[in-house]
Amino acid sequence: MVKVVLKDGVNWVGVVDWNLRDFHGYSTKRGSSYNAYLIMDEKTALVDTVKHKFGNELVQHISELTSMEKLDYIIVNHVEMDHSSSLPMIAKLAKNAKILADQRGKDALIKHYGSDFNRVEVVKTGDEVKLGKKTLRFLEAPMLHWPDSMFTYLVEDKILMCNDAFGQHLASAGRFDDEVDNHVLMEEAIKYYANILMPFAPLITKKIQEVVQLGIPIDMIAPSHGIIWHKNPSQIINAYLDWSAGKSENKIVIVLDTMWGSTDKMARHIVDGIKSQGVEVKLLKLRASDNSEAVTEIVDAKVVLVGSPTINNQMFPTLGSFLTYVTGLKPRGKLWGFFGSYGWGGGAVRGMIEMAKKAGFEVQEPGLEVKYVPDEEDIKKCFGFGQQIAQKIKA
Ligand code: FEO
Repeated sequence: MVKVVLKDGVNWVGVVDWNLRDFHGYSTKRGSSYNAYLIMDEKTALVDTVKHKFGNELVQHISELTSMEKLDYIIVNHVEMDHSSSLPMIAKLAKNAKILADQRGKDALIKHYGSDFNRVEVVKTGDEVKLGKKTLRFLEAPMLHWPDSMFTYLVEDKILMCNDAFGQHLASAGRFDDEVDNHVLMEEAIKYYANILMPFAPLITKKIQEVVQLGIPIDMIAPSHGIIWHKNPSQIINAYLDWSAGKSENKIVIVLDTMWGSTDKMARHIVDGIKSQGVEVKLLKLRASDNSEAVTEIVDAKVVLVGSPTINNQMFPTLGSFLTYVTGLKPRGKLWGFFGSYGWGGGAVRGMIEMAKKAGFEVQEPGLEVKYVPDEEDIKKCFGFGQQIAQKIKA
């Protein structure tokens, strides 16, 4: 492997998963990486491991720099299996290494991989491990992404190894922010935030404030997925502050599905009504776009309009899936509106409104319903629906 050096004695030894296209339902069209870092001083520490199927590649990368027997520490920043599932194999090979995790990490490792992990030594916020000239300091970061999540800060080199936080599912030959297209990088960073971390937005804001208050200087942010922020770490910190604060644009997103084209036709006239007010609008049809793409678009939108035809007195199944997904991700500060076509009894719009209200979303009522196929009168109503909601956010 071509060496990837963050700072003298600090190497990336992770793997690039070029072919990953589905990360538990999140579409990862640009692949991903599982980043692990090797810190070599008088003592040697490995921060994080990788997904099981890439364990041998991780061993190969470490072995090009040192031997597995020489590892003194393995730090487990997060137990989710994309990072830990090669750990049982790595721990066997690194037989002299102490394994460090926080208490929740230790508990989760035992639940995942059995009693061998009773050997894990527990660290907590503020604890330090001296490697020689270099020092590891730990900062617990529960729910960023799981209860066990933890950051490891390399004090003298000012590198924050923050696992899932600030990551992106992005496979690339370059490992640093100035080696990839910035537009692509930020597209993947917001998609990652939307699909992985958005439910924990208040905790993100608090954690960033905590780091600022601790006065920790940061030269590099080294997450466990995607590229390392070394040229401009403040770009991703500021973006996270905006996203987690729910900062939004004058933008409306329409997410819909359609059976015979009526709900789609409604959506297109709603788009015209919005456009007539000079407000940005994006339309995504489910089955052409997936849930993970749709939630990415709504992070910085003020309004989300959701359209569904009625099928058997229910919303269309793709909308059921979308609303289940998006309510779990808890986007904050959006106004939600609902529309759709029906043939006789209806039910989709009513069902979607109920679901949104139950999730605590702010809902614009009433929704807009059209029987069978929109006629001229209905088309005017759709245009007016779009116009009215656009005026509301412009005010
Ligand atoms: Fe990348 Fe929460 O795992």
